[in-house]
Amino acid sequence: MRPFRTIWTTEDRFVEIIDQRKLPHSLEIMKLLTYKDAEIAIKSMTVRGAPLIGATAAYGIYLAVREMIENERDGDFLDQAFSDLRASRPTAVNLFWALNKMRSALDNSADFLSTSWDMAAQIVEEDIEICRMIGVHGLPIIEEIASKKMNEPVQILTHCNAGMLGCIEWGTVTSPIYQAHNKGIKVHVWVDETRPRNQGSNLTAYELTKHGIPHTLIVDNAGGHLMQHGMVDLVLVGTDRTTRNGDVANKIGTYLKALAANDNNVPFYVALPSTTLDMTIRDGLTEITIEERDQNEVKYITGKRSDGQIDSVLICPETTSASNYGFDVTPSKYITALITERGVCPANEMGIVTLFPEFSQIEGV
Ligand code: MRU
Repeated sequence: MRPFRTIWTTEDRFVEIIDQRKLPHSLEIMKLLTYKDAEIAIKSMTVRGAPLIGATAAYGIYLAVREMIENERDGDFLDQAFSDLRASRPTAVNLFWALNKMRSALDNSADFLSTSWDMAAQIVEEDIEICRMIGVHGLPIIEEIASKKMNEPVQILTHCNAGMLGCIEWGTVTSPIYQAHNKGIKVHVWVDETRPRNQGSNLTAYELTKHGIPHTLIVDNAGGHLMQHGMVDLVLVGTDRTTRNGDVANKIGTYLKALAANDNNVPFYVALPSTTLDMTIRDGLTEITIEERDQNEVKYITGKRSDGQIDSVLICPETTSASNYGFDVTPSKYITALITERGVCPANEMGIVTLFPEFSQIEGV
């Protein structure tokens, strides 16, 4: 079956995903049979992007429940699955949100198998609707800019991949773009390549190609130059965790785009599913754990050779050491607004709780 989502279930009630490490050169499907498969898929970035990490972890718990029942294991096995999945990646809060949702559903259930299956499916369906609605609320921003552009395309710069591949369907950043395109509004996307994992060149460019959206790949350092020359109408990025104060953790390099946007009066928007809000913390700079990954992701680059083979090559002296911070934090003062599934709001506590009053009393603050 050809996938039309990034994660789906099979007739024998297992889970399948797209191996995103192989894109854009080949579309390969991977079956998850155990919770360890789900954990490895998250760790290895076979799946990535905050909402998809959460959905994969949720299905990981379903698989753990199934293993527990089939292999007659006790509750310690399930506890281990929760703690292994919890440790799979540190920054995207959707992982913890999804695991907490699975835990409380199971704590109130007498039928673990059907509860975990249903709750994972619910997380997936909710994400699809959230992303669709981010598009509904983001569309007027693009329309407003388009109305002043005399039929010239609206120029949008994005970083990393906050498209369908980071979610289930639609994507967060791509949802308003797709909805604008579907309405006949001319858009053009500047795609940051997003070193070291190249989610921009490998994934965002792939998605935009599939949807027929005009786009141009740029090196990560080009955005400032484009903004200085009036070639960007808005910056639109995703988020892995947004604090009560409106600080946004996203892929490393996002902060530099925000600085350049600020210096050039270019609006800087964050597409924010409420599942990425962490209302238990305020200060993004001190309270968000920033993932550090293997230095070889920086030292080597992978791509397709002219003979069609995929290869990885060293791009620095063998003995040079590299640092590999996966995310950075953009302080709320640089963010024009958050585009959420309930509307657009300022990146601050008042803006967030006006749209999400149920979050005003979250513990930990
Ligand atoms: O390291 P990744 O690829 O998981 O990082 C992904 C991002 O930073 C995305 O911008 C973010 O998760 C939003 S996905 C809708």
